[in-house]
Amino acid sequence: MTRLVHLSDLHFGFHREALIAPLLDRIAEARPELVVITGDLTHRALEPQMEEAARFLDRIEAPTLIVPGNHDIPLLNPLARMLWPFRGYLRHFGGPLGPVAQAGDVRVLGVNSADPFAWQRGLFRRGEIGRLIGGIDPQAMNVVALHHPLEQLPTVQKRTARRADEAASRLQDAGVGIALSGHLHIFALDELLATNRFPGLLQLQAGTALCARISDLQNEFAVLDIAPGAVRLERHVAPMNREGFAPPEIRDYALQDGRWARV
Ligand SMILES: [Fe+2]
Ligand SMILES: [Fe+2]
Repeated sequence: MTRLVHLSDLHFGFHREALIAPLLDRIAEARPELVVITGDLTHRALEPQMEEAARFLDRIEAPTLIVPGNHDIPLLNPLARMLWPFRGYLRHFGGPLGPVAQAGDVRVLGVNSADPFAWQRGLFRRGEIGRLIGGIDPQAMNVVALHHPLEQLPTVQKRTARRADEAASRLQDAGVGIALSGHLHIFALDELLATNRFPGLLQLQAGTALCARISDLQNEFAVLDIAPGAVRLERHVAPMNREGFAPPEIRDYALQDGRWARV
């Protein structure tokens, strides 16, 4: 069994300061083999925000795998956004922008889906899907980690990232079993499974771990225990109107005949 922690949308610069210590405590208590962070580490990709996010990462003992979100490239400086969109990110968090990590029997394939030319929407770059498929470990549970969800529920007004549909289909067919994302600041998992569009792909669309936007209602992160054909998910939720995290909610999922189901 391999234990991952999944965080998304930290939004340093517009974050819930009082939740930093409880979040770091929970991560330390979970003793994960890898912490996966699916983008929007900062709110506006500003230097002090990058520095604060980097200090947060330094306080995580476990190895980390991070990918950029749209908020990690400069929005308000179009010249910087077009000419050197990832300069600040790379300086503070290092590269590559699509990192790969192996943790026990789990292989995590990171994707940079942030697009300077379609800031909100995001994309799969040309050749990216092939690169991911080439990186699959047939002996492992393969996980893709990216900021933008591969699939969105019909209630979401925003457009899905460019080529996300093709990516979900090809990655599922190639044997990727889990997709971790964020961006929408709304947790979704069972609802995405219920669309039945990609039954072999367990898609965890995370809520925001630290963003202070009141309309998000809560902050949260997930702990995933991954075994061959099985995932146990712990969902740790911190409502905006209370201090710290509630006891985790636990859900189990099993993969049978190429289809995930909650058990
Ligand atoms: Fe975000
Ligand atoms: Fe985002």
